[in-house]
Amino acid sequence: MKITVVQNYAELSAAAAEYIAAVVADRPNATLGLATGNSPLGCYKLLCEYCAHGDISFAHVTTLNLDEYVGLTADNADSYAYFMRKNLFDNIDIDPRNTHIPNGVAPSLQQECARYARLVGALPRAVQLLGIGVNGHIGFNEPGTPLNSVTHAVQLSYDTICANAAHFGGSATRVPTRAITMGIGEIMSAERILLIASGGAKAQAVKDAVRGDISPLCPASVLQTHADCTFIVDEQAASLL
Ligand code: F6R
Repeated sequence: MKITVVQNYAELSAAAAEYIAAVVADRPNATLGLATGNSPLGCYKLLCEYCAHGDISFAHVTTLNLDEYVGLTADNADSYAYFMRKNLFDNIDIDPRNTHIPNGVAPSLQQECARYARLVGALPRAVQLLGIGVNGHIGFNEPGTPLNSVTHAVQLSYDTICANAAHFGGSATRVPTRAITMGIGEIMSAERILLIASGGAKAQAVKDAVRGDISPLCPASVLQTHADCTFIVDEQAASLL
């Protein structure tokens, strides 16, 4: 595990964007595993700028997102599908048909999870970008999830619902309580993993992930066993290391 500590969110975003841009420059038809949330926003903004300036092209890139809320359609402004279009896909030259995200309104969640798991298996990712939850979750794999899990539907923890309430007008009761997430075993199957974390609220989770026991109690701790995993964290998120 390689840990890079940068000063602040702006530096973190620049370092993450350079990392992803280098992967795409090296392998223009790479599959990228992507995340949503606050952590990658700055990185995505920079990738949009690189693309607009012609420094990078996503024309042959495929993407696989980690997760989606259950019950939100792709055109719902709170869905992760919408987040990805607004913050990345609509501003780069990617073919929308090559962007994949679980369908949170599929008639059968079980069948949707099986479909997405097949897709994840068929599209080896050159890199998987991750954020980390305050409770150490990766994707929506909450503490207690088996470390070899595959795509499944989950009940979100109270911690996660509270952490995500800001995106729902500050109201925890508006946050969907279920999601579909890529499993931990599938996250681990990416060739490289890049985890980004910013702010003091993530410091304990980062410490548990990097220095703690490898345990389902902190899903991100499994990343210690990945052959090519990089953490880019700002000084506040690194404050307990
Ligand atoms: C998002 C995801 C989550 C987030 C995590 C951190 O697709 O899978 O694991 O990465 O909850 O969220 P932020 O970045 O908003 O702090």
